[in-house]
Amino acid sequence: RKRIGLLTGGGDAPGLNAVIRAVVLSAERRGWECFGIHDGFNGLLAPEHCSGQPVRRLTAGDVHGIGHLGGTILGSSNRGNPLRFPVRGADGKVSELDRSDDVLALCKQLGFDALVIVGGDGSMGIANQLHQKGLRVIGVPKTIDNDLDRTFSTFGFDTAVGFATECIDRLHSTAQSHHRVMVVEVMGRYAGWIALHAGMAAGAHAILIPEIPFDIDKVADAILEREGGGKHHSIVVVAEGAQPIGGERALLAPATDGHSERLGGIGAQVAALLERRTGKECRSLVLGHLLRGGSPSAFDRVCASRFGAAAVRAIVDGHGGVMVSLDYSSIKLVALADVAGHTKCVPVEGDTVSTARELGIAFG
Ligand code: F6P
Repeated sequence: RKRIGLLTGGGDAPGLNAVIRAVVLSAERRGWECFGIHDGFNGLLAPEHCSGQPVRRLTAGDVHGIGHLGGTILGSSNRGNPLRFPVRGADGKVSELDRSDDVLALCKQLGFDALVIVGGDGSMGIANQLHQKGLRVIGVPKTIDNDLDRTFSTFGFDTAVGFATECIDRLHSTAQSHHRVMVVEVMGRYAGWIALHAGMAAGAHAILIPEIPFDIDKVADAILEREGGGKHHSIVVVAEGAQPIGGERALLAPATDGHSERLGGIGAQVAALLERRTGKECRSLVLGHLLRGGSPSAFDRVCASRFGAAAVRAIVDGHGGVMVSLDYSSIKLVALADVAGHTKCVPVEGDTVSTARELGIAFG
């Protein structure tokens, strides 16, 4: 029987288990065998460091009832790039080696006809390089950040936005009770998708995203304007990658004695500056990895299942070197070469930002 290898790489995202389930179930229905590789490429290249059986046969029984669970039953790793694989020398020093040939040899040895790589932009770049070297690879896009190009969306994003929205909803009442400014920092790396969508959904008063460098004075003005209108609380959502106009994050430091380090990330810095400029009590919190945890939303379960089944369909149909992608309502295949190295940022003139501005949300 023909064999599919499957691994999940990079940061986890809700929906990974639904992809695994879909790949295994649809492969079985087509008479193919599926093998799960543990902890990303470590399952192949560093089996001794694996948290589970490095490579194992996955059957329907193994994926029973996992579609609604967060995380990945295969484990993941963002330190296992086979093109720059960390190797510890006899002197204890770690250097990086291109071990892509080993990946090809091991896949051959394991009898894989194709390898499904579920991951973010880094993993899609690796997938593309392995494909160029002759391995039949299908990419499945994953990220809570929604920053992968050539796909309308990925699974994980909807769940992250839903959870962030719920958290921000909850902050309104405490902000209101204490007449405070609450600053919420969310993940998203260099993109502001989570901040924009959750901020809009939860009625934030200012949203700071990397795509629109902000002027802290304008954010303070927006808060003071609300104050003047009798609204004594404000919610500011800050993407972790947000930056002030023309400046390093260090410019935001409220003190010059190294104290800024202890203040934490951009959210804490924005809160400290707003407190100074508005004279209002400000509090900040970081949602961080909470956004990656928990059960996938219904949308993400369906998206992940469609991606998994589409990956198997692509393999059976003889494709390789492609990524499955969501094209609004349909699934299509796009060349990995067109995805690798490209990220998707929030369009600053796009409809969502324009709508937010029309609703009175400040971007600084
Ligand atoms: O890409 C997903 C993501 O969660 C980003 O939003 C965040 O910047 C990063 O991963 C965090 O990675 P780590 O878990 O390695 O700190």
